[in-house]
Amino acid sequence: MDERKKRVLITGAGGQLGSELKDIWESDESFDVIFVNRETLPLDELDLLYKRVLSHKADYIIHAAAYTAVDKAESEPQQADLINHLASIEIAKAAKDGNAKLIFISTDYVFQGDSANPLSEDSTTNPINVYGQSKLAAELGIQTILPQAIIIRTSWVYSIYGKNFVKTMIQLMKTKDEIQVVADQEGSPTYALDLAEAIKNIIVSELWVGGIYHYSNEGKTTWYNFAEEIKRLANLNCQINPVSTSEFPTAAKRPAFSLLSKEKIKHTFKLAIPDWQKSLKEMLFKLENHT
Ligand SMILES: NC(=O)c1ccc[n+]([C@@H]2O[C@H](COP(=O)([O-])OP(=O)(O)OC[C@H]3O[C@@H](n4cnc5c(N)ncnc54)[C@H](OP(=O)(O)O)[C@@H]3O)[C@@H](O)[C@H]2O)c1
Repeated sequence: MDERKKRVLITGAGGQLGSELKDIWESDESFDVIFVNRETLPLDELDLLYKRVLSHKADYIIHAAAYTAVDKAESEPQQADLINHLASIEIAKAAKDGNAKLIFISTDYVFQGDSANPLSEDSTTNPINVYGQSKLAAELGIQTILPQAIIIRTSWVYSIYGKNFVKTMIQLMKTKDEIQVVADQEGSPTYALDLAEAIKNIIVSELWVGGIYHYSNEGKTTWYNFAEEIKRLANLNCQINPVSTSEFPTAAKRPAFSLLSKEKIKHTFKLAIPDWQKSLKEMLFKLENHT
């Protein structure tokens, strides 16, 4: 029997996560995958969004697009709310009415950062910046409309694609003798390729269990130690000086502690998550050999 292939709609196709999803999904002919970006699905055209999403007749929607300029969001709160919150609500409504399963990507910045232990999915949220507020508002709205949606909070995302901490550090370390990196914010990086594979595994497994999940690489670090590891693995020579958050002011506040506990996602979907150092090594190798 010629069964219709499952259709997957992926937003933010040009972003870090979207590009990794594209890499692992593009050549998979067992799914019909549609990638949309700012041109083909502009999230700020709110009144058209519901119909446009519905028209794709997707079985799964991976909503990876977002307003991710964390510092800029402080001076553009309405725009951040429009893209991250209100647009996600329209997508959730379309997913509900079109019978699509929705995966929404959220952030560790929904947390205040005063915990001493890895944060679980039911830890108290209290975002301290506009970006985090807009993502939390989306989470709450999506859960009301579509309780069966899967919401994955992730942290410190990097990839060979787009702009991120790893690529910025390499650039700085190649051009400067000395740099300063914040040493009092703890968390764990996420290689977007690992997250993309986890998302695909969830869909392929057909073990759909709605709710909030946490995903980052295993282990704990600070931005400073992360930078030291990048320097070591990339064989760079640059003095890295640890500084405190107060010495490195940014427009948006960041949580001092945002280490996510991954027990729920590992247990529910039988996922193995690589350590952050191992994934960083892989990414750097890919970056070196990427044309
Ligand atoms: N980056 C992190 O450290 C981090 C941490 C925690 C959670 N997250 C979440 O993880 C997800 C993936 O993040 P990422 O790092 O892959 O983000 P990213 O690289 O910044 O990509 C975001 C994508 O969203 C698209 N986008 C932005 N505004 C849009 C609009 N108005 N209409 C349509 N598309 C729009 C961007 O399009 P253009 O390419 O055209 O700009 C881009 O492709 C997001 O939900 C983010 O909130 C990220």
